[in-house]
Amino acid sequence: MNILAIETSCDETSVAVVEDGSKLHSLVVNSQIDIHKAFGGVVPEVAARSHIEVILPAVQQALDEAKMGWDDIDAIAVTQGPGLLGSLLIGVLTARTLAWSKQKPLYAVHHILGHIYANWITDGPEYKTPYPTTQPEFPVLALIVSGGHTQLMFGTNHTEWRVIGRTTDDAVGEAFDKVAKVLGLPYPGGPSVAQAADNGNPDAYALPTPKVSEEYGFSFSGLKTALLRAVQAECGVGHDFPSFELAGRLSDAQVADFAASFQKTAINYLVSKTRLAFENLSPKTVIIGGGVAASLPLREVLSHEIPIEIEYAPQILCTDNAAMIGARAYYQSKHQAPDDPFTLETQPSWPL
Ligand code: KG4
Ligand code: ZN
Repeated sequence: MNILAIETSCDETSVAVVEDGSKLHSLVVNSQIDIHKAFGGVVPEVAARSHIEVILPAVQQALDEAKMGWDDIDAIAVTQGPGLLGSLLIGVLTARTLAWSKQKPLYAVHHILGHIYANWITDGPEYKTPYPTTQPEFPVLALIVSGGHTQLMFGTNHTEWRVIGRTTDDAVGEAFDKVAKVLGLPYPGGPSVAQAADNGNPDAYALPTPKVSEEYGFSFSGLKTALLRAVQAECGVGHDFPSFELAGRLSDAQVADFAASFQKTAINYLVSKTRLAFENLSPKTVIIGGGVAASLPLREVLSHEIPIEIEYAPQILCTDNAAMIGARAYYQSKHQAPDDPFTLETQPSWPL
């Protein structure tokens, strides 16, 4: 079954063709990072306008790269939510129109389940990191780490996924993005903090490990503020000093040390909770998903701390992409009826 999938929940316009939830025939990702960089983060109105401009050429490009025509496509899939309303609307309206005009069943996918199912893709074009050799085996423990979400999930089969712990405030990717701003590093913060951290000493600044009452819960707001206070102290200024003026007072070496110290604390925290869940729940497979799952230091620490082998998806399948939506939609198609192309609405804050 070949599924043409569309993902436009935030600042990537992506279209992919995926066969049977495991083989990627083509993947187009039009990133808007360069457009939003000037603003230090995603501007929703600008994102929606950019999706409109590139979505139809991206659909055609995905078909061309897959060497397929509409007769080869068996279904359409789309991210229904959560995400930015204006961005989601472009993807959902495009998918509804294609499903109706090409007479294909339509499957609406939850973005976070999509991130999980990136790990089901085992074959496709060559990317820098190889595909996992096998698909995850249930029960599966999944650590989801993105710009909007940080949660641990436990799945016993394709229809039963439950959230066992989530952040009570910021997502880890959001914390990386905000810390990058304080340190004067470019958006998105995950990769730029990682790059700066390469030259830094992770033990230069002691940052507190956040505490939350829930066993598998997370919190990143306090850690982000602790970093801000440490930078203010280092610069010899008070708490009311504007945060956007701090970076100009830091040397490259100080920026590197702050980046490394923050990254180490955040990663150790994510991994310690994942390890606790692993020990208590004994899953057969551990997977990670979401933009921060592209982090090589996170993968390194996780593989070291979890006593079973973990296979990782190529980095391009960790950040937002349509391949993961096509993979999830395949398993949905086995268990549920298609959605209605005449009535499907976006779900900007769709709880799991
Ligand atoms: O999943 P994603 O692409 O979008 C959301 O659904 O939020 O995640 C974006 C987040 C951003 O916060 C970005 O800083 C982070 O993923 N990110 C990374 C890397 N690439 C993206 N964090 C660490 N290392 C990376 N290589
Ligand atoms: Zn995402």
